Amino acid sequence: MNLGYKGGRREQMEKEIIRIGLAGFGTVGTGLARIILENQDWIKRRVGKKLLISRVLVRDLNKVRTFIPGPEARFTDNPDDLLSDPDIDIIVELIGGIEVPYTIITKALKQGKSVVTANKALLALKGNELFELAAQNKAGLYYEASVAGGVPIVQTLKESLAGNKIKSITGILNGTANFILSEMTLKGLDFEDALARAQEKGYAEADPTLDIEGLDAAHKLTILIRLAHGQDYPFDSLPIEGISKVQAIDISLAGEFGYTLKLIARVKEKSGYLQAGVFPVLLPEDHILAKVDGPFNSILLYGNAVGPIMLYGQGAGELPTGSAVLADIMALARDNSEPNNTGFLEPCLPRARILDPELTVYEHYFRFTVLDRPGVLSALSGVMGEYNISIAQAVQKTNPAGGSVPVVFLTHKAQLKDVYAALKEINSFSFVTAPTVHYRILT
Ligand code: NAP
Ligand code: HSE
Repeated sequence: MNLGYKGGRREQMEKEIIRIGLAGFGTVGTGLARIILENQDWIKRRVGKKLLISRVLVRDLNKVRTFIPGPEARFTDNPDDLLSDPDIDIIVELIGGIEVPYTIITKALKQGKSVVTANKALLALKGNELFELAAQNKAGLYYEASVAGGVPIVQTLKESLAGNKIKSITGILNGTANFILSEMTLKGLDFEDALARAQEKGYAEADPTLDIEGLDAAHKLTILIRLAHGQDYPFDSLPIEGISKVQAIDISLAGEFGYTLKLIARVKEKSGYLQAGVFPVLLPEDHILAKVDGPFNSILLYGNAVGPIMLYGQGAGELPTGSAVLADIMALARDNSEPNNTGFLEPCLPRARILDPELTVYEHYFRFTVLDRPGVLSALSGVMGEYNISIAQAVQKTNPAGGSVPVVFLTHKAQLKDVYAALKEINSFSFVTAPTVHYRILT
């Protein structure tokens, strides 16, 4: 693997210090630097080399930094200071966003310098192109921290489960969204307060819309699909629903029926085709993923040989994410063979064969807001019957103040296509006073 040394392989092997050009010194960059300083002897014992952060790229040189990332570290606001420094062996990109990291990473790869990044947005949107560039230049492009923070899912799919065909992956992949839903469920916080707390704790993206609208989880799912299925699922073909419209009343009603609301990312393989998406679901309270609370992430997957595997850990935050970045740096520092960037021999993966997501079958939760009048329940159930949706449970709540009342239906399995058609018809009834809330139920 090319670490960017000017000399030959012998010189690489003999090099005792690996110099890191760190682009970004925020939550994750600081975490990485702390672990490197704290665990230096341990790292040396494992890879035989010392890691040194020699250059640090930031946006604002005037910001007060209370922590210095190493004895040699020099700060700059010019990316070229990292890219043109011949002593830097590995570029670590922890800035976030698209344009600036794209420029830094492509310039580094073109020089044959290996790159470590936590940037799932960039990999989801431009991964194929970057992996091809890395392969052309025999450089490593490693990204363990890009999915599920500290949870080692990338290496697990690339190496440990490489012999398995993965049948399905269901993941809680966004710590911020999971934290918000947990705070709303367990502490009764409202959405805005829970989001503010997630931001204070450093879980959220610079633009939290990415977290709450499901986009960040979808970026991560795109990366997992590549690793698990060796196919490139175009990001803009992925159905994505977030949690910004989740209401306390549905969390509470779901709880009465024995369900917990979670944002999940899911891909399922069916006869060589992939069904994938990100959406909120109701999970039975005894489902193994229902217990994953707070900023924790978890991935439940099925391999055709290994069966079910579940990984669980902190999906965000300074030290957990820094831990994953460090693992990649150590792998690059240790390994002089060809890089294993995608987990497949092809650097550029073929386009995914996609199954229409509306053909997916789930059980469903509906909350209608309706006027409390004769004939309403029979009209609702009539439409359900028309679209082959069979009702399993139905409850109407009273409203002491008068006016509209909530009616909840839980259904047996039905195709999403039929559900969407039924919802369209139901929402046009004059007795329906607010848009119907619908969630899939995952059993
Ligand atoms: P962050 O706290 O916002 O830090 C960003 C850093 O990048 C800051 O040091 C900032 O400089 C620097 N920066 C921003 N724009 C820049 C520019 N145009 N030129 C040079 N430097 C620039 O971000 P973070 O939370 O550490 O996230 C970094 C990456 O890791 C993102 O891709 C994120 O998605 C990913 N990630 C984060 C987590 C997490 O828990 N936070 C977990 C997994 C993955 P200043 O210090 O001067 O502002
Ligand atoms: N904003 C992300 C999350 C950070 O909340 O999961 C980890 O990727």
